[in-house]
This record gives sequence, C-alpha cells and structure tokens, in this order.
Amino acid sequence: MNFFKKSVPQDPAAEVDFDHLPRHIAIIMDGNGRWAKKRGLPRTAGHAAGAETFRTIATYCKDIGLDYLTVYAFSTENWKRPQDEVGAIMGLLKKYLLEAISRMERDRVKMEFFGDLSPLPQELQDLCQRTREISKGYDGCQVNICLNYGGRDELVRAAQAFAARCAAGEARPEELTEERFSQYLFSAGVPDPDLVIRPSGELRLSNFLPWQSAYAEFYFTDVLWPDFSKEELHRAIAAYQRRSRRFGGI
Ligand code: FPP
Repeated sequence: MNFFKKSVPQDPAAEVDFDHLPRHIAIIMDGNGRWAKKRGLPRTAGHAAGAETFRTIATYCKDIGLDYLTVYAFSTENWKRPQDEVGAIMGLLKKYLLEAISRMERDRVKMEFFGDLSPLPQELQDLCQRTREISKGYDGCQVNICLNYGGRDELVRAAQAFAARCAAGEARPEELTEERFSQYLFSAGVPDPDLVIRPSGELRLSNFLPWQSAYAEFYFTDVLWPDFSKEELHRAIAAYQRRSRRFGGI
C-alpha cells in the first residue's frame, strides 16, 4: 500500500455520510482580501464575494440538516482596519440581515450573535436584535455570527461575570465547573464545534472559539473563502468523518 499517495476524490459528496454529519461546524471566513488583490479589485470586493459564499454555504448547511453553523465575521481586532473596509463589512452584514429577516418564516433558520454588539452601529445592533427575536423559536439550523468577537475577551467576560456573582454572595468559587463556566460564554447552550474549518492557507485559530474548540477537529485548505464551495465543504466533512475522535480516551 502506498501511504504517501495523495487521494483527492473527484466527487467529494460521494465520500460524505450525510446521516452522520458533524453537529456543529465553525468557519473562519478568511482570504477575502487576497482574493480581491489577485483580481486587482479593492478589498471590499473580496468581502462582498465572501458574503456571497457565506449565503451559499449557510443555505446549503440548512438544506443538508446541519444543526449549528458558526462563522467568524468580525473580530475584536478587525476595528484596526481602514474605516472604509470596516464600513463595507458592516454594510454587508446589514444587507444580509435584512434579507434573512425577509426569508425567515420560510427558512426557519435560528440566528444568534456571539460577541459584544454594543460598539456596532445602532442600526446593525437593532437588526441583530430583531433577527434574534424573530427566529428564537425556530428549530432549523442555528447560524451563529461572531461579531466583534474575540475568544480571550469572551473568557475574561465570563470570568468577570462569575466573579461578580461570587462577590454578590450568589455563588462560591469552588462551585465552578467546566459546564457551569460554559454558561457564561456567548455560546451558552450551543454544543461545542465538532469541526473547525479555516480556508486561505493560514494555520491559526486567531482567537476564534478557543474554549469551545478544545476537542474540535480542524480542516485547513488553501482555497480562499470567496472560492470556497459546497465541494470544499464536502471535502472538509469527509476528512472529519475519516478521523476517529477519542476525546482523550484510547
Ligand atoms: C477575513 O478575510 C474576513 C473578514 C475579516 C470579514 C468577513 C466578512 C464577510 C465574509 C462579509 C460579511 C459577513 C456576513 C456574515 C454577511 P481577510 O480580509 O482578512 O482576508 P486576507 O487575509 O486575504 O486579507
């Protein structure tokens, strides 16, 4: 047997067991800027193309019956980008949320947001609140958009919230367990991601769900996010399904 032979299936969908999908997929939507640069376009065009890919992938995840999809749309560090780029990303999010609201009744996708939304433009905060409210009873795929999200920031907030309860005499430090701590995170109530996908060739977590992805499987690909397709998603899921997860056991 040739262990070094690279096997890239022609039709990666054929490799996927759709009856045993990961329950939760999380994606770092990376490579928009490079995609635009390669085409001599402004970075904002890369984000617009990335938003289109997000629509395609989120719709497909709903269609195949995935329970949870979480995407990294804007990090606590992304405010350092030029104002026009930040504005363009906010504009794309607004456009997407307006569309999502108009389709919600039909799609029954539940939407949540991880991150501190308070520094976002008021209009965007209101839209997030509306989508959250309208969809809270829906039982379809839950799409979590990380907005002004940072994993370390999330952990510090959780520690502060628990410490405040201790200071108020409502909890004792020794009562804290992993399960209880998880309830202070933005992701409270959402199972940990089984599979984390990062396109664009970068091999980092970049402050994305560090607590939640402790036991996740990782899939990295050189494909830039705007070029990410259903086929690439199939490849990621098939790779996940070929691995055996032991959670520290044998
Ligand atoms: C990272 O690529 C991408 C972002 C910081 C923004 C992601 C935003 C979108 C896909 C659009 C809006 C989202 C939704 C959910 C509608 P990068 O710019 O860092 O790429 P680079 O590393 O090639 O420069």
